Amino acid sequence: MYETIKYEVSGGIGYITINRPKAMNALNGQVLDEIYAACTEIEKDDAVKAVILTGEGKAFVAGADIAQMNQLDAVGGRALMIKGHKVMNYIEAIEKPFIAAVNGFALGGGCELAMACDIRVASEKAKFGQPEVNLGILPGFGGTQRLPRLVGKGMAKYLIMTADMINAEEALRIGLVEKVASPEDLIPTCEKIAQTIMSKAPIAIGIAKSTINNGYDLDMRAASTLEIEAFTSAFASEDKTEGMTAFLEKREAEFKNK
Ligand code: HXC
Repeated sequence: MYETIKYEVSGGIGYITINRPKAMNALNGQVLDEIYAACTEIEKDDAVKAVILTGEGKAFVAGADIAQMNQLDAVGGRALMIKGHKVMNYIEAIEKPFIAAVNGFALGGGCELAMACDIRVASEKAKFGQPEVNLGILPGFGGTQRLPRLVGKGMAKYLIMTADMINAEEALRIGLVEKVASPEDLIPTCEKIAQTIMSKAPIAIGIAKSTINNGYDLDMRAASTLEIEAFTSAFASEDKTEGMTAFLEKREAEFKNK
């Protein structure tokens, strides 16, 4: 069904693998459409409780497809950017954890895709960068906005203006990734994180994700109000009763996503 990605579900985890290794998994319109379509499946499918997003071969994603962009006029470029933003925003809106398993180059739109995920784990072989200024453009899938929110304005300007490529260790140091693993441990590390999250109350996890994403840019008073309402939703769940009862009965909670 998909031509440029692989999508499979196993053990409650949805695996999206971007699969254009000959083009370093560059994001063309079709790849973006297919990631979006997989996200639609993920959103609907109760069997999927977490997502791991990775790339086939030596790249995670080496950016938007330069060959395709080269053919586009400004209107076409704008449409591609809108499509990219829709994908990134959709990943942020789905109330399930998305983990980027950054196996190799995460450049331009690839770094932006990783940043739209909730948690980033980098292989020791990963390389990060926003090299758009080499091409006469700037980040266009959210990089000018998400990068400063993750690493601070100064470091974001440094990375975007110099187009410097950084390694996994530096990415960890500046807060662009949350963990680094050896190449062979990359997916197992992501699976362990996914399984840990999946053992918690799903409603609380989903609401926590949306509250962090939706509250981040609000002023503190509005953000506090958002948290109170979000908290109240989780407080009304059966999982809250189960979680607290299990604690008091000194047993493991059995959450039912209700
Ligand atoms: C299209 C790409 C590509 C890309 C690599 N390829 N990146 N094709 N778009 N973003 C293709 C190459 O043309 C080449 O095709 C093949 O993949 C292998 O790449 P090589 O360059 O030969 O490999 P290597 O020497 O190992 O270098 C890897 C690399 C380099 C460092 C990742 O390919 C690179 O710098 N890529 C471009 C990175 C970049 O500028 N990204 C930002 C794009 S702009 P052939 O046919 O020759 O084998 C962007 C903007 C987002 O992302 C928002 C705008 C809408």
